[in-house]
Amino acid sequence: MTEPLLVVDNLKVYYYTLTGIVKAVDGVSFSVPGSELAAVVGESGSGKTTLGYSILGLIPPPGRRVSGRILIDNVDITSLHGEALRRARGELVSMVFQNPFTTLDPVRRVGDQVVEVMTEHGVPKDEAWRRAEEIFTKLGLPPRLLKAYPHQLSGGQRQRVAIAAAVALNPKLVVADEPTTALDVIVQEQIMELLDSLRRQGMTIMLITHDIALAATWATKVIVMYAGTLVEYGSVEEVVGEPLHPYTRGLINATPSVDRKDRPKSIPGLPPDLRRPPPGCRFHPRCPYAMDKCRKEPPTLIEASPGHYVSCHLYTEGRR
Ligand SMILES: Nc1ncnc2c1ncn2[C@@H]1O[C@H](COP(=O)(O)OP(=O)(O)O)[C@@H](O)[C@H]1O
Ligand SMILES: [Mg+2]
Repeated sequence: MTEPLLVVDNLKVYYYTLTGIVKAVDGVSFSVPGSELAAVVGESGSGKTTLGYSILGLIPPPGRRVSGRILIDNVDITSLHGEALRRARGELVSMVFQNPFTTLDPVRRVGDQVVEVMTEHGVPKDEAWRRAEEIFTKLGLPPRLLKAYPHQLSGGQRQRVAIAAAVALNPKLVVADEPTTALDVIVQEQIMELLDSLRRQGMTIMLITHDIALAATWATKVIVMYAGTLVEYGSVEEVVGEPLHPYTRGLINATPSVDRKDRPKSIPGLPPDLRRPPPGCRFHPRCPYAMDKCRKEPPTLIEASPGHYVSCHLYTEGRR
């Protein structure tokens, strides 16, 4: 067994809003070995972004980690504060967002911004410029673009710059939250190629996406979230090829495919309000196989086959 690069252990992150406590991530556990591209999939509002932010120790108020630990390369990020946490962000783990305009300052040259990531972590300025040129070349950006402003770049180039900034300090883990959602299909493909090449060079990538087709194409591991809980986890071959959880099956059937003649079927109903999630299994109101037990007892995560985990009473009952 290889050491996991990322361990999330019973993580609970709640938002304390005026209208109630939003249980955005509610007891999520999984681990990812190094050099994998793990996709976190699920409908909007399932807690994917909250999970991603938690891994960077960046939970926005009124959110709070209620319990759980997060280890990245054996470092417990939940125990870091101040300067140690600031150093870990960049050197251990970094993030790429959906909209690179939120990460890039529109009035500063992109090169200065990538260089700053390094100088803030103690890399001398001339060394940082040299490295920025190297990183740009490696990521398919002509080094002359270091002098450009964000608005002078295409959407795809801007996302490459954001990735350059994220990998500038060679972190172990990069969390990419919907990094291609704002891009057209061809550029989306190029950005995914780039993330995949980083993975092949040994980086671990956590791709957050609502698009299970994107996950099926690029991920090596798939984590399926539903209403703040992890419902299924395993290799892409298992989760997409032999899905166990009725929700995962529903997501796959709801996904249009170019080579399929039948129309996608959407999952009936809507995800619950996370201030008042249903008792028992959170998916039971939408599940075609719901049993009495599902309405009462929350299922626990079991290892259905080696490395393939599912949280569903159909499997704890010993049948499908
Ligand atoms: N800053 C916040 N304040 C209050 N609730 C939030 C905040 N951010 C997210 N949420 C709630 O947390 C839940 C999970 O959201 P999120 O993590 O963004 O899911 P996803 O990325 O899967 O769409 C949702 O119910 C959302 O409304
Ligand atoms: Mg999100």
